[in-house]
Amino acid sequence: METLGPYDVVVVGGGLAGLRAAIEAKRAGASVLVVAKSHPIRSHSSAAEGGIAAYIEGASDPRDSPLQHAFDTVKGSDWLADQDAVELMTFDAERAIIEMEKWGCLFSRDSEGKIARRPFGGHTYPRTRFAADKTGMCLLHTAFERALAEGVDMLYEFYVTDLVSDGKRVYGVMGFDVKTGEDFFIKSKAVVMATGGGGLMYKFSTNSYLNSGDGYAIAARAGAYLADMEFIQFHPTALYPSNILITEAARGEGGYLINKEGERFMKRYAPDRMELAPRDVVARAIVNEIKEGRAFEGGYVLLDLTHLGEEKINERLPLVREVSIKFAKVDPVKEPIPVRPAAHYTMGGIKTDIDGKTNLKGLFAAGEAACVSVHGANRLGSNSLLETLVFGRRAGLAAASYAKSLGYIEPPKEAVKEAEARLWTPTTLETGLSFGTLRKKLGEIMWDYVGIERNEEGLKKALKEIEELMRLTKTLSANKGPGAYELVAAHETINMIMNAHAVTTAALWRTESRGAHYRTDYPKRDDRNWLYHTLMKWEGGWKLEKLPVTITRWPPQERKY
Ligand code: FUM
Repeated sequence: METLGPYDVVVVGGGLAGLRAAIEAKRAGASVLVVAKSHPIRSHSSAAEGGIAAYIEGASDPRDSPLQHAFDTVKGSDWLADQDAVELMTFDAERAIIEMEKWGCLFSRDSEGKIARRPFGGHTYPRTRFAADKTGMCLLHTAFERALAEGVDMLYEFYVTDLVSDGKRVYGVMGFDVKTGEDFFIKSKAVVMATGGGGLMYKFSTNSYLNSGDGYAIAARAGAYLADMEFIQFHPTALYPSNILITEAARGEGGYLINKEGERFMKRYAPDRMELAPRDVVARAIVNEIKEGRAFEGGYVLLDLTHLGEEKINERLPLVREVSIKFAKVDPVKEPIPVRPAAHYTMGGIKTDIDGKTNLKGLFAAGEAACVSVHGANRLGSNSLLETLVFGRRAGLAAASYAKSLGYIEPPKEAVKEAEARLWTPTTLETGLSFGTLRKKLGEIMWDYVGIERNEEGLKKALKEIEELMRLTKTLSANKGPGAYELVAAHETINMIMNAHAVTTAALWRTESRGAHYRTDYPKRDDRNWLYHTLMKWEGGWKLEKLPVTITRWPPQERKY
């Protein structure tokens, strides 16, 4: 095994949160290494299509403000977001966007040449800024170029298996170079986990094959707290049948959702906001249309853009058109697009404060890997890109200042040995199971029992089946490198199963419905017992606690759209 470092800061993950953290840590004078399992510009941030929310002075509705953005976010979260963190995010949004523009991100413009904005679900005024329907891609390329310009070191196609930790402090990361199959211990004073979300645990997901949620499992194994893992967002409009994201911007630009009877069915579920109600409301409405027999054979509804016209579709939604033609043989200029809900975003994550700090010394987290919490029980579309920039920056700064305040402390020898042994375990079982069998089963369990609607019976059944999968992970086998892709897949599968166990355990615990967590056996929100975050710690099983929500300005109200 080779040893690298010590670095001041190692960032795990090359998406937008990770790159933004790395840029800031480097600018603060830290030595910084980004380790990413794919090339950074293939990160899943590139799939965030529709935009990034921000009030911008002089380029917004005159009635809008950062405070209104904060209120919409809190309401969207079904009052589970921490209001201090939300305000911090919405008040920093303009700065974050102008900074990206100065670094080279080409935002679309309005007729006056100002940064354009479009409506998005749950936002009272149009405030979603965009680069056509390729916003994440544009921001990601900008951040990558900036990180290179700042002199951030990067290791691509390098897979991190574990933090090296003694349960109180982190000493760096253990992992391997996917191309050569060689293992490395990278010493670091601080580590920022920016590993993205875990939607891949579901059979139907808009997520890329990178999104196994490694960071949640890695941090939990090391002793970090996870929070609010039961809250999984289902995006209402994934392309049928491939599940590629059809951006909410399609509805923001005026698209209609239509059932088999040709009806704009959202009028029955959210008469004021219609198609631009928050995602949890729209996804449940589609499920209800399917259940009541008003969807199409196979379980989908239609997203009609034909009335927008070819020019607008080409200018504002070119990717939607391209993807629909290529993957569903439907040209949205001429006919409606078949869509259904699919798992999209993990609201919960590694529990952090507003500076990305976790309960472990030296461990920070940002982006979808973290739970700050600014999304609570349901994230508003276009707040995720904003979160990556605002809290990525803060985490990078905090990690650098922590690292510069101390010298490198050598880890206990057993911690390194243990992490190294775990890295190679799947290669020691030559005739075990392959990862594919377990993943397929996991996806079905999660979709059937831990999906848009849940109940006690299904969740208990899921937990039992996931525990059997956990047992089977001990028999996973993989080849060593060079080209250690099987070993990556084996570790990802182990992580996905552990994450699914966390989601299901928390979903069973929370006996209420709030935001994206809908329990058919407890259909109402219960503020008296559940206006709390779910905090969980791995101790061979999950230890659960309730953590109060920070309410600063807005006491809970009924959530109507
Ligand atoms: O629909 C979308 O474009 C997705 C954006 C988001 O998840 O924020």
